[in-house]
Amino acid sequence: MPATIIDGKAIAAAVTSALAEEVSQLKQQNLQPGLAVVLIGSDPASQVYVNTKVKTCEKLGIYSEKHLLPEDASMNDVLALIDQLNCDPKIHGILVQSPPPPQIDEEAVVAAIDPAKDVDCFHAENVGKMLIGKTDGFFPCTPYGVMELMAQSGIDPAGKHAVVVGRSNIVGKPMMALLIQKCKGANATVTVVHSRTKNLPELTRQGDILIAAIGKPEFVTADMVKDGAVVIDVGINRVEAPDTPKGYRLCGDVKFDEVAPKASFITKVPGGVGPMTIAMLMRNAVKACKMQNHIEIR
Ligand code: GUN
Repeated sequence: MPATIIDGKAIAAAVTSALAEEVSQLKQQNLQPGLAVVLIGSDPASQVYVNTKVKTCEKLGIYSEKHLLPEDASMNDVLALIDQLNCDPKIHGILVQSPPPPQIDEEAVVAAIDPAKDVDCFHAENVGKMLIGKTDGFFPCTPYGVMELMAQSGIDPAGKHAVVVGRSNIVGKPMMALLIQKCKGANATVTVVHSRTKNLPELTRQGDILIAAIGKPEFVTADMVKDGAVVIDVGINRVEAPDTPKGYRLCGDVKFDEVAPKASFITKVPGGVGPMTIAMLMRNAVKACKMQNHIEIR
């Protein structure tokens, strides 16, 4: 049977439409969630992501501010802006687009963000909370989006072997943490494989759920996938395509055409995990606003 394509765009639209309703209820209480997005430098892909985040805020009625700092901004410039945003009552969530230019110490910037406003869940306090299963912090947007995609597609990870390809702080490590939690929608057995793993295909072939987040175009090929696996592609890679108007095309970490016939469920790139990352950011911004105003979280 051909794989069911998990439509990330449609699931993200359902998440954001529920959020729009929550935002309108908050506005009736004279509250408006506010998100500040900080971009340092002019990386073209980061500019696209940041603009999409701001546009989505507008659609949902979330107040947003875009702060653009020059490529040669200093640590002092960035920390001064973070201080200002930490103290601003209109702003409930702060996101600094990653990666920043090399002179910026990203860890120090993340540590300076008020954990209550850390809607990326990059701050050590929130990462720790997530790891020990607490729900009064945040979950990081991309892994959270993957969990939501599975939940909305009727895929229960409980007891399944989930293999995560990649060990980044943004995706691989928190993905592992969310999947192993003792709670509804998780309870998986998790293996994390990475660039130094021996016999990587042998391990990926054991995955009932295979999550590719290694940042290498079309890295996962059909021979690395178990028959009937759920395949989630987190990668977004720009590869040269001289015949196209933009000169590049987007592809994931999975060789879709050859893997899809083996999978039970699969996501596409674009239109899979990407839209969910933004939807979950919006959910975190609304949650941040509610927590800062002592409103019960449903
Ligand atoms: N760069 C790639 N993904 C992300 C993300 O989820 N948050 C931030 N801040 N930067 C990113």
